[in-house]
Amino acid sequence: MTGKVLKVVMRGDPLLQKKSVDVQDPLAPDIQTLIRDMEATIAHLKCSGLAAPQVGVALRLAVFRVMTGNPLYPLTPDDDPKGVDWTVMINPKITPLSEEKRVGWEPCQSIPGMMGQVARYHAIQYTFLNREGREETRVAKGFHARVVQHETDHLDGILFPDRMEEGCELRPKEEVLASLRVAS
Ligand code: NI
Repeated sequence: MTGKVLKVVMRGDPLLQKKSVDVQDPLAPDIQTLIRDMEATIAHLKCSGLAAPQVGVALRLAVFRVMTGNPLYPLTPDDDPKGVDWTVMINPKITPLSEEKRVGWEPCQSIPGMMGQVARYHAIQYTFLNREGREETRVAKGFHARVVQHETDHLDGILFPDRMEEGCELRPKEEVLASLRVAS
């Protein structure tokens, strides 16, 4: 059964500023339908992550992967070079493994065409329920850790511009891509 493509909520909509609530039963039919609809939406947008509040649902659930070979999303040397396969992350809990934060560029489907520099914990451990409702714990570093923190922020009503500190830049995606090409 394939899902249907949902409308993505854009920055400025109060739905993106709400704190979402835990999913009670990941196996409930409405949750499984939501997961399939989010997957269909991600495929339609050709993006690599989406949190439930971005489709107007205030539940603690996000779907993401960590891609390889996309210059806009450079993996750090600490990342798994294979990337991370599609993950359904329900009710995530993040524990930083050190105080170290690093600044990197982030996009967001709710802020189209722009990227911002955000400081995130470099190394985290996170625990979540997967789409079968089973608990998983992972250690994530670099870009993987960044994606998990970005998506979990959505569940707390936080968008990346809210995290941007002084000196961090917000720039058009094309400009960032051009500068990354020059740097590599
Ligand atoms: Ni986002």
